[in-house]
This record gives sequence, structure tokens and C-alpha cells, in this order.
Amino acid sequence: MAEFGFHTTSDEAAAALKDAITGKTILVTGVSPNSLGSDTARAILAQKPAKLLIASRAADKLQEVIKSLDIPQGTVVQPIVLDLSSLEATRKAAAEVNSSVTVLDAMICTAGVMAVPSFEKSKDDIEMQFAVNHLGHFLFINLLIEKLLASEHGVVVTYSSEAQSRANLSFLDDLSYNNGKDYEKWTAYSNSKACDVLLSVGLVQHFGQRGLRSFSVDPGVIVTTGLTRSVPMEDFKALGMFLTHSSLSVSFYSPQF
Ligand SMILES: NC(=O)c1ccc[n+]([C@@H]2O[C@H](COP(=O)([O-])OP(=O)(O)OC[C@H]3O[C@@H](n4cnc5c(N)ncnc54)[C@H](OP(=O)(O)O)[C@@H]3O)[C@@H](O)[C@H]2O)c1
Repeated sequence: MAEFGFHTTSDEAAAALKDAITGKTILVTGVSPNSLGSDTARAILAQKPAKLLIASRAADKLQEVIKSLDIPQGTVVQPIVLDLSSLEATRKAAAEVNSSVTVLDAMICTAGVMAVPSFEKSKDDIEMQFAVNHLGHFLFINLLIEKLLASEHGVVVTYSSEAQSRANLSFLDDLSYNNGKDYEKWTAYSNSKACDVLLSVGLVQHFGQRGLRSFSVDPGVIVTTGLTRSVPMEDFKALGMFLTHSSLSVSFYSPQF
């Protein structure tokens, strides 16, 4: 069995999982230029899946990613517009996937937002980080569950964060955070990420006996993606994180988070 660690690259991980990728149908959410989702899609493509569905909320960003991808002969790449902040839009995207595939071998759910500065609600009146990071994916996966169960070794990967360890799940008693008055952006992010861990646990509890596997991953700290764009530097300092720049690299350390 392959051993992965801190220094394992996405290419190395995908190569080690070649048998689970080659000829399979795989869906990745959160695919925008420079996102972890686009790097995941790039690494997966090198192992020649039969079909790779890439989902995100912006059609133009999906096209930009497609242009940058090295698509092997025989592999189909299909963009899916998916707005996880709307249950209706999520249902529409799931219907498109359901009509495009007979089986889903893997779903990798990277889409997410972090530390939305002030209390915001989704189109369905639900706090934005919980809506996008957890609830949208919860619905999307459940609407595609029969396709996942149709695979011999179906697997769902949810993207959590070390932030989940700071969650306060009492918010489940009042998803509105007292109508926004008790909203704290990092706690709300942590809460949504803890729910993503629980989503993987729940999927295995409900569907494990039918062969479904699910894993929740913490990808580490990668500052070159779009995730940190609305986060002021003071926040990182307050959280005990240190940033060092050089002309060649950016390193990010998070001793507490
Ligand atoms: N980067 C890190 O250090 C880190 C650490 C721990 C956990 N994570 C987790 O890793 C995942 C990927 O993060 P990332 O660093 O790749 O961030 P990113 O570059 O911002 O990518 C997030 C993706 O989610 C999409 N998205 C945002 N709102 C959406 C919505 N309403 N509906 C559908 N898609 C939406 C974004 O689209 P747009 O481009 O249109 O915004 C983008 O494609 C996240 O779940 C994050 O919580 C990341």
C-alpha cells in the first residue's frame, strides 16, 4: 500500500491511485484557476480517467481551466456549472450530472469559501459558509448517491480543514447565529468544516454496507489559491500564523490553526 506524507505531491498521489482513476468517471467540485480543485483535476487527468466532470459556479473559470489542462486522448472532460449557495442550482447541476453518467466512481468535493467577513445568507436564507461548504455538498452528493453506489468502489472525498478542531457545534441549534448577531467568521468556517467531516462519517454509516467509502481530508495550508483573498493579514497574525516571502517561494506555517 502506498504511503503518503507531507511532501507527497498531487501527481505522486494520483500515480499511486492509478487503478482507481484509469478508465473511471470522476467528479471534482471547486475547479477554478489556481484552486486545489483544478490541481486535483490536472493530476487526475494524467492517469487517464474515462470521464472527468469539473464543477464550479463560474462557466468562464471552468473554460479557463479546461484550456490549461492536458487532456489525454480518449478522456472526456465535462464542465458543470454548480452554485452550491443555491439548493435549486445544486439540484439543477445534479440533474445534469445524473443525465450525463451511468456511474460515478469518485467525487472530490473541494469547493468552499473561508471566513466570509460579515454575516451573509445564501439564496435559501442559510448562513453562507455552512450553505456552500456543507449543505450544498450534502445535497449534491445525496442527489448523486445512486451513481456512486453503481460503482464497484465508489468513494467521496470531502475537504475539511484543521480549523474543524475549533468548531462549536452548538450552532446546529440556531443556524442563523442569532440572526447574525453572534456570527464570528472563523468559528462559522470551523463549524462548516466540522460538518464536512461528519458528512463523510454519515456517508459511511448510511451507505458503507453498500460499498461506499468516504474520507475527509485536511489539505494543509496553501496560500496560492483563491481561498485567502478576503482574509486580512492581521487575521493570520492573530491566529498565530507566519508568512515568509522570497522571490522563489511562499511558505506558510500554522502552529495553532
Ligand atoms: N488552501 C488551503 O490552505 C486550505 C486549507 C484547509 C482547507 N482548505 C479547503 O480546501 C478547499 C479548496 O480550497 P482552495 O484553497 O482551493 O480555495 P479556492 O481557490 O478559493 O477554491 C475554492 C473553489 O470553490 C468555488 N466556490 C466558491 N463558492 C462556491 C459556490 N457557491 N458554489 C460552487 N463553487 C464555489 C470557488 O469558485 P470561485 O473561484 O468562483 O470563487 C473555487 O472554485 C476548500 O474547501 C477549503 O476549505 C483549503
